[in-house]
Amino acid sequence: MDFSFTEDQLAIQAVARDFAQRRIAPVAAEFDRSGEFPLDNIREMGQLGLMGIEVPPEYGGAGMDAIAYVLAMIEIAAADCAHSTIMSVNNTLYCNGLLKFGTEAQKKKYVTPIASGEAIGAFALTEPQSGSDATAMRCRAVKQADGSFLINGKKSWITSGPVAKYILLFAMSDPERHARGITAFLIDTERAGFQRGKTEPKLGIRASATCEIEFTDYRALPEEVIGEEGHGFKIAMGVLDAGRIGIASQAVGLARAAYQATLAYARDRKAFGQAIGSFQMIQQKIADMKCKLDAAELLTLRAAWCKQRAHETGQRFSTEAAVAKLTASEAAMWITHQAVQIHGGMGYSKEMPLERYFRDAKITEIYEGTSEIQRLVIARNETGLR
Ligand code: CAA
Repeated sequence: MDFSFTEDQLAIQAVARDFAQRRIAPVAAEFDRSGEFPLDNIREMGQLGLMGIEVPPEYGGAGMDAIAYVLAMIEIAAADCAHSTIMSVNNTLYCNGLLKFGTEAQKKKYVTPIASGEAIGAFALTEPQSGSDATAMRCRAVKQADGSFLINGKKSWITSGPVAKYILLFAMSDPERHARGITAFLIDTERAGFQRGKTEPKLGIRASATCEIEFTDYRALPEEVIGEEGHGFKIAMGVLDAGRIGIASQAVGLARAAYQATLAYARDRKAFGQAIGSFQMIQQKIADMKCKLDAAELLTLRAAWCKQRAHETGQRFSTEAAVAKLTASEAAMWITHQAVQIHGGMGYSKEMPLERYFRDAKITEIYEGTSEIQRLVIARNETGLR
């Protein structure tokens, strides 16, 4: 087992850290307050290769591996979770899905502008009535005589929906076949039949725009079907396996930021004549924070390693991704909670970023599969039972 990183991995980590600390950290609180989408930063991140880290250079990306992606995500999330949400959806839910299942022409046309940061991509699976139970979707795609599909229905909680140029959409094309009747489509948001609905006022990751989208007789052309007709659910699940490693990385970055702020505070803050970090009750919390943080980081890197290996073996990494996401998101929630507690009143104040970390951490236990769904995936895969 080798715990060291390659030069390329360290290089993208350094690029991400520099951008995160110089350009994101100073404005993160203001973006959180205003809820404005950080478009200029996202464009620049695209130019630095951060919007398509695993995308080959011929499609506008940085051509790096899954470990490099994790390292870069951790750095961006440590500065601001909202920026890392936008980065994660672009990289994994959108680019990864198209790279894996798209044709050469689809990759050229739809991956290049998104991986280079010229435009934003999104992923649309969830609906107002179906979140965890994704196959219960109502959005319909009806095949026409000329091979095109007419799409009607609603999707909700679409990260980057308000600004996306292209969306990877999942719709039911054959309701009789349930999971095997779902097809994936590439949606152009500038085409007739596509509308944006209400935006979500959120507890955290406030600068990452989220909205409902609606289709009214939207016509998808045959060349806009991604993968085979009826294979959409497997595509969505495969893409989410990769996406969950992104959310695990985000949780690690966020937890690391909260932990480091807490260490500094525990050394500086005096109570009863001593640094509060010398009290055993604080020391116990710090030791537990450190253990959870390291476990989350190592499990996330293991999942990324399995994902990278899958390029050669084709082996699924669903369990490792679910273990990483579950462990890291629960660690982030616990660590940010303890960080607020140790900071006392300052943890509760908007003068410091702790309350933002705490609010942002919650979403990592919910999106791209709740903690309950991660436990279900792990237990089903471990026992072989359903
Ligand atoms: N990779 C490939 N195929 C997979 C798979 C995977 N990871 N998981 C399941 N499949 C296949 C199964 O093998 C099965 O194939 P067959 O029909 O050939 O047997 C098929 O898909 C159906 O699988 P299941 O019977 O297991 O399906 P299910 O209905 O029981 O659901 C589930 C399984 C795990 C609960 C799944 O629905 C799930 O993950 N739900 C959560 C959805 C989710 O994460 N939503 C988040 C949306 S994205 C988001 O958060 C927004 C954002 O923008 C950030």
